[in-house]
Amino acid sequence: MQSNVRIHPSILNADHSKILSEIERVSKVSDFLHLDILDGKFAPNTSFSWEQAQHIISGSPIPVDAHLMVVDSDTQGPRYAEAGCKSVTVHVESTVDLKGTIRNIKSNGARASLALKPATQIEKYIDFLNDVDMFLIMTVEPGFGGQSFMPEMMDKVSKTRDLIGNRPIWLQVDGGISKDTIQIARAAGADTFVAGSAVYKAEDPAEMMKLLRSLAEGTQPES
Ligand code: DX5
Ligand code: ZN
Repeated sequence: MQSNVRIHPSILNADHSKILSEIERVSKVSDFLHLDILDGKFAPNTSFSWEQAQHIISGSPIPVDAHLMVVDSDTQGPRYAEAGCKSVTVHVESTVDLKGTIRNIKSNGARASLALKPATQIEKYIDFLNDVDMFLIMTVEPGFGGQSFMPEMMDKVSKTRDLIGNRPIWLQVDGGISKDTIQIARAAGADTFVAGSAVYKAEDPAEMMKLLRSLAEGTQPES
């Protein structure tokens, strides 16, 4: 999709019993599919097993953006890249060897990204600006779909945007993104938006994806 705005639907709260058809509903209007992997240890929730994840990665008609909320990111990151994800995000809070893990994700053919929980500051990760393909600034605490967007994260998004400068690094936000909040995150400098419940609770998920995109691109007046 030719735009500097990307919208990634999260299937965390979609119907897991018919997951490929849930993905199909939005596949023509999505840039990547956001696949949340929760191990129940990094955050208080679980999501997809390794077998379910493989089924999704191999069956998805759109590239997969895996968001790993697990305690062993150094081994799981490269594993998800090897399984075919086109983008793999690991949390800085759960990665021991950040540089090595980024390198191992990339050497398996995926984009590599670092995620920051709400309490984690971006300044500590300036050294990684020449290594990563994306930063993910969480706009909720990791764990569950359907939480409220944290507007107080917008300072961190703006700071990250300034640090990125002209580098081709994507800046993703995840949590509480909806038609009411996407323009706030866009104005702060985000260009890649994860939306879960806003999309899958909508009567027509594909139409909601289109609305979110036009709001972020500024082609739709604020509602
Ligand atoms: C939360 C996950 C999110 C979640 C977003 O830990 O990382 O990707 O699915 O869901 P919404 O858009 O409902 O906040
Ligand atoms: Zn996520």
